[in-house]
Amino acid sequence: MAIEQLLILIKPDGVKKSLTGNILTKLSEARMVIIGAKAVKVSKELAEQHYYHLKDKPFFGELVDYIQGKVYGEPWDRVLAFVYQGEDAIARMRKIAGATNPEEADPISIRGAYGRITTKGVYENVVHCSSDPKEAEREIKLWFKPEEIVNKIYPTKEVTV
Ligand code: PPS
Repeated sequence: MAIEQLLILIKPDGVKKSLTGNILTKLSEARMVIIGAKAVKVSKELAEQHYYHLKDKPFFGELVDYIQGKVYGEPWDRVLAFVYQGEDAIARMRKIAGATNPEEADPISIRGAYGRITTKGVYENVVHCSSDPKEAEREIKLWFKPEEIVNKIYPTKEVTV
């Protein structure tokens, strides 16, 4: 199995609902290491770049507002960003996060337990998880400077916990 890194974001709804501890505890079941962590006030530019592949979707504007925490305002208008590393990390963390649609997610997954769909049809699904290694690399480079990552990444190095 490959050692992978991925970006995980605790979105503003997760921050507002005080779910950070619960989410990190659930993620820790996968026994991965955190190699980057910070709080981010998300600019419109960052949000649009993060979700660039969805720019033609009808919910794009609302998705950008949501990741910026605009509906919540101060002090909830931020995300907590993490880079995790471990064996088969992407598939394993995405399983713990649950399906993207919170109504279809396993009820004991993070999104199944805590997510919802807004009246406008936007998924408020508490966490973002990179979808594949290529996307993970793009997202990590978008959200983190190299000096903010404690491990050398690309190429990867095995770490056991
Ligand atoms: S995935 O899971 O990232 O591979 O899925 P993808 O299709 O690339 O990303 C979809 C992101 O848009 C968010 N979103 C919605 N998707 C589909 N339908 C609706 N109505 C919708 N509303 C929001 C979805 O949560 C994905 O973002 P992340 O941050 O990955 O959850």
